[in-house]
Amino acid sequence: MKGIILHGGHGTRLRPLTHTGPKQLLPIANKPMSQYCLESLVDAGISDIAIIIGGIGSNKVQEYYGTGENFGAKITYVNQDHPRGIAHAIRLCKEFIGNDKFVVFLGDNILKKSIVEYVSKFKQTDATASILLCEVNNPTQFGIADVKNGIITKIMEKPKNPPTNLAVTGIYLLTPTIFGIIDRLKPSWRNEYEITDALQMLLQEGHKIIYNMVTDYWKDTGTPQDIIHANEVILRSTEPYFHGIKEDNVSTMGNIMVGEGTIIKNNSKIIGPVIIGKGCVIDAASIGPNISIGDNSKLSKCSIENSIIMSGCNIDGDFKIKNSIIAFNSEITMTDNTDSKIFLLGEGTKISL
Ligand code: TTP
Repeated sequence: MKGIILHGGHGTRLRPLTHTGPKQLLPIANKPMSQYCLESLVDAGISDIAIIIGGIGSNKVQEYYGTGENFGAKITYVNQDHPRGIAHAIRLCKEFIGNDKFVVFLGDNILKKSIVEYVSKFKQTDATASILLCEVNNPTQFGIADVKNGIITKIMEKPKNPPTNLAVTGIYLLTPTIFGIIDRLKPSWRNEYEITDALQMLLQEGHKIIYNMVTDYWKDTGTPQDIIHANEVILRSTEPYFHGIKEDNVSTMGNIMVGEGTIIKNNSKIIGPVIIGKGCVIDAASIGPNISIGDNSKLSKCSIENSIIMSGCNIDGDFKIKNSIIAFNSEITMTDNTDSKIFLLGEGTKISL
């Protein structure tokens, strides 16, 4: 089987974070979110993978993944000139796929469980497609499947009156039959070729779509809140390690991951789950819980919880930050302020208060 990872899209809900690069490269627990998809495919024995790129910073995707060699994969890059929809992106891979069955992973979907079992089941079935369904509290926001007696009867995009709360997740197991269907699709009201329309057309034309329920964690990380939540969940299940240096006066508790060359000093307090990358300095700061800090960042005197600080940041001041995402190489310096602050800062932001 082959794999496709979607790395294009608009990423409007994540602005300004997506002004300088694709959302799928934003880190969750210090790893680009699309890397979780790639690792999930490779883990299931799928190493021949196409990555759909397009839009701002798509060169960064190629720089990061390269040929795929470092990730145990062989990567083919496919350019999408404009985000014309998920089905459109899939159609661009017709030649790459040939006659194989394949798995499509939306590059901003985080699935904790391995897909091995779903893949091996799909290899053996005569079904034309297989989807993963997950129960959600807000079904009007998702593609939804109607299921009767264990059989999918209808698939619809963001229904006003959802018949079930079973969201169609962004992991699709497909056969090349889908390409002929997409060729006959009409764009939706938002002018995109929708994967839900393609799946519904498959059903209408008598094809069988099977499903599996995702009972473990799944998140479509479209918004900053989604990313902060996924960060917390991934951090909680990461194995602890400590490769840095800490002074005796530093207190630590819970699940902590610290990279090489990082120094924690001056009565700092680390409350896990927390990941701190390589070459960081944590100086008289309180970090955690639910914090990711990228490589070569410096945090002094501040108190931070439930946030993502990307690499190369400098935060200095006696103030509290929570529920924030601070992108690469940003700087915040503040004096005499004890209020809690919430930030969503794009790359290279500088704030001095
Ligand atoms: P979405 O999150 O539905 O859309 P988006 O990325 O454009 O974001 P927003 O709604 O905030 O503007 O896209 C789902 C996934 O599919 C995501 O990983 C991006 C990817 N995608 C493409 O690769 N090509 C496309 O044409 C579209 C629409 C999405």
